[in-house]
Amino acid sequence: MKFFVDTADVAEIRDLAASGLLDGVTTNPSLMAKAGRPMLEVISEIADIVPGPVSAEVTATDAAGMIREGKKLHAIGHGRNNNIAIKVPLTPEGLKACKAFSSEGVMVNVTLCFSAAQAILAAKAGAAFVSPFVGRLDDIGEDGMALIDDIVQIYSQYPSFQTEVLVASVRGPEHVVAAAKLGADICTVPPNILRQLFSHPLTDKGLAAFLADWAKTGQSIL
Ligand code: E4P
Repeated sequence: MKFFVDTADVAEIRDLAASGLLDGVTTNPSLMAKAGRPMLEVISEIADIVPGPVSAEVTATDAAGMIREGKKLHAIGHGRNNNIAIKVPLTPEGLKACKAFSSEGVMVNVTLCFSAAQAILAAKAGAAFVSPFVGRLDDIGEDGMALIDDIVQIYSQYPSFQTEVLVASVRGPEHVVAAAKLGADICTVPPNILRQLFSHPLTDKGLAAFLADWAKTGQSIL
């Protein structure tokens, strides 16, 4: 399973990239607003830090506008190994833009996916990634992971579908584990949740005991 981090905070991304466990980054207009910096600058910095796909979302709502914006965002990656994925919403216009970009070999992340039917359309439009939002479905009393189960199962029956399932709107480590059990390709995880994946109180307790016992020996490995 690949891990993307879901943030536009460059300092956080730099810190997490140092772990060697980061495969990509997703951003969205809300995360950009939170970062409070010029979007093109932020995307360019992120694309330099992380070699994997960096999703940059368009804000136009018509296909022509999305294509214009997407080309400008994609140009940020020109001249280096272009790792910019254009993020478009799962609307009829978004899928038109997706088809246009994917036909030219540009990676597209189709976002705001809330149903299996929508995920089928994204795959048919040639999306590199589809982003089902599990947390937002759970928030309204639906089962986000049941949607991941459906999409993984459907995609596995059609080898021509090259779209990766990018589990989004992740609310805790349990979402990551559930997505992994279902065979989802990627989870995009907020930085605080990504850090939670490392921790277990018994790890801390066990390490403290090992080190205390070791100190009693008076030895040093080096
Ligand atoms: C995905 O690409 C989105 O940026 C993100 O996962 C949305 O998550 P939220 O529901 O926590 O805003």
